[in-house]
Parts: sequence; structure tokens; C-alpha cells
Amino acid sequence: MQNILKKITTCKNLDELEKLKISILGKKSTLSAEFAKLKDLQGEEKKTLAAKLNEQKQSYTKAFEDKFKELEKAGFDEKMKENAQHFSFFDESLNNGALHPVMQTMDFIIEYFVSLNFSVEKGPLIEDDFHNFEALNLPKSHPARDMQDTFYFDDGRLLRTHTSPVQIRTMLTQKPPIRMITPGTVFRRDFDLTHTPMFHQVEGLVVEEGQRVSFANLKNILEEFLRYFFGDVKVRFRPSFFPFTEPSAEVDISCIFCKGCGCRVCKQTGWLEVLGCGVVDPNVFKFVGLSNVSGYAFGLGVERFAMLKHQIPDLRSLFEGDLRLLEQFR
Ligand code: DAH
Repeated sequence: MQNILKKITTCKNLDELEKLKISILGKKSTLSAEFAKLKDLQGEEKKTLAAKLNEQKQSYTKAFEDKFKELEKAGFDEKMKENAQHFSFFDESLNNGALHPVMQTMDFIIEYFVSLNFSVEKGPLIEDDFHNFEALNLPKSHPARDMQDTFYFDDGRLLRTHTSPVQIRTMLTQKPPIRMITPGTVFRRDFDLTHTPMFHQVEGLVVEEGQRVSFANLKNILEEFLRYFFGDVKVRFRPSFFPFTEPSAEVDISCIFCKGCGCRVCKQTGWLEVLGCGVVDPNVFKFVGLSNVSGYAFGLGVERFAMLKHQIPDLRSLFEGDLRLLEQFR
């Protein structure tokens, strides 16, 4: 019996095991012949032989089952290895995925500010009136609210229309000095060649104790940043209005398509508007309970940066998922 068990456990493959099984447990096996003898026996003798044969049969059957599982698993592993080689075959003909151009642009912007020790903050997409408007010095009925066509929920909450509410959240939870950017998705009821209802912004905020931060610092950092992003461009600051900054400015770069000579993209002005910024309005500091501090803030649209950098004429094409466009950004 030990001999047979040894034969089973040393079997090398499923074929061999199957043959061995037939020879040991099959109809023509010695064991079957032994079982056949039982019918000629009586009483104690029959009982003893039957017990012995059944015991043998059980242990062989169990040994076969165990060995079968073992060989089957080995065969499976072997197959997996073979297939794994095939996968690497595939790799060459399959296209690699890549980050969406908007995300690539976002990362490129984030890298710049992180290298200057800005922290990266996050905030909720569903905001309340206080963080999205009121604390940013946009009281109810303020006409500037119309600048931002808002998606409202029935309960008065809203999809944030800009990343500026994260300024508020950060100032409410962190003490100055604050140097932060906050990249993220924002939403507005707008849809045309240059607007989509969902787009991305990066907001920046610097707050220091006392009067240490000025418009000059803001101007300097943004000029450096825009040259990092767009290369050798002229940068100009135009007076503008945002409720949360005073003074406020819009920033233009010399048109990267015509080098400032005037073309269709810059509408013959030679300039492209790229972001909004300003010195944080004292009213905003009041809303978050900060006094004797100074700061500046800025906000930019990531899609606009991506479109200008890669000369994409229609903003909507960034969100259509057309592989012919996306494959160019691998
Ligand atoms: N939140 C503004 C917008 O969505 C952009 C902006 C402008 C942000 C000026 C700022 C800023 O922080 O100072 O249009």
C-alpha cells in the first residue's frame, strides 16, 4: 500500500496521474479483483477483507484527489506565467494611457508653487453661500454675484463657482503665515466656445502678520510664474475689480501666437488675459476674524492656460474625450 501511495505522490503530470488512477482504482485493477473475491467469502473473513480493501480504496482516492489539486494548481501557475509573457507582448501594440492635458497643466502649475513652499489645500465642491460669496465680500444682492452664474441646490447650497472659498476655509483653520494654492473643479451655468459648465481653477493666497505683503510681491511672483509657464513673454497688470481684493488687477501676457503684433487670438490687441489677482480686501480678513495681517490672492483658469499653451481653439474639445486629440498629449 505504501508503495502505491508513493507512486501517486511522485506523479509528474495530470496525464500520468489519470493513467495511474485507472490502473489502481479502475475496473481491471488488482483492487477491483480483490473486491470481487468478497462475494465468495463469508462471516469474519469477509468482514476483515472488506474493511481492509475499503481502507485502501479510501486512502488511494484521497491521495489521488490531493495530487490532482496539486498538479492542477501547478499547471495553472504555469499557464499564468505563459500568459504573463503574452501580456508583455501586448504591451508594445497597446497604447499607454496618459494624464489628461488639463491635469498635466494643473500639475505643471502646482509644481511651480510647491517649489516655492506653497501648501496645496482642498475644499468641498458643494459649498454654502458664506464660503463661496459672503465671506469673500459678496453680500446677497451684490451685483458682482451675477458675474458667476451659479448652480443652486434647493436647500440654498451651491456648486462652488470658483476656488476662492478655499481661501476662506484655510484662513479659518490656519494661522498666518499662509502660503497656499488650491487647485480644483468649479462650476458655472455657461456653455460656449470658451466656457464649459465644469472647469478647473488654481487659486493662490499669501497672508502674513503685519503689513509685510504688498502688491509689489504679488506682481513679482506672478511675473516669474507666467514666464515659467509661457516662456519669454511680456506681462502687464491692468486695474480691475474683484470684491475680495483691493486693489485688484487682471494680468495679461503678450500674445504668444503673434508675439504682440496683433492676431485673431488676441483680437488684434497683442495681449492675452490670463488671470485675476489683488491685495486681499480688509473686509475678507474681518469675515475670517483676522486682524493686523496683509495678503494677496490670485486665481486662474487651468483650461485657458492649457488652451493657450497647446493652441487648442475650442475649450469644449478638451472634454469630449476624443482620442485623436488626447493622444497628442501622451
Ligand atoms: N475667483 C475669481 C474668479 O473665479 C478669480 C480670482 C480673481 C481669484 C482675483 C482671486 C483674485 O483670488 O484675487 O473669477
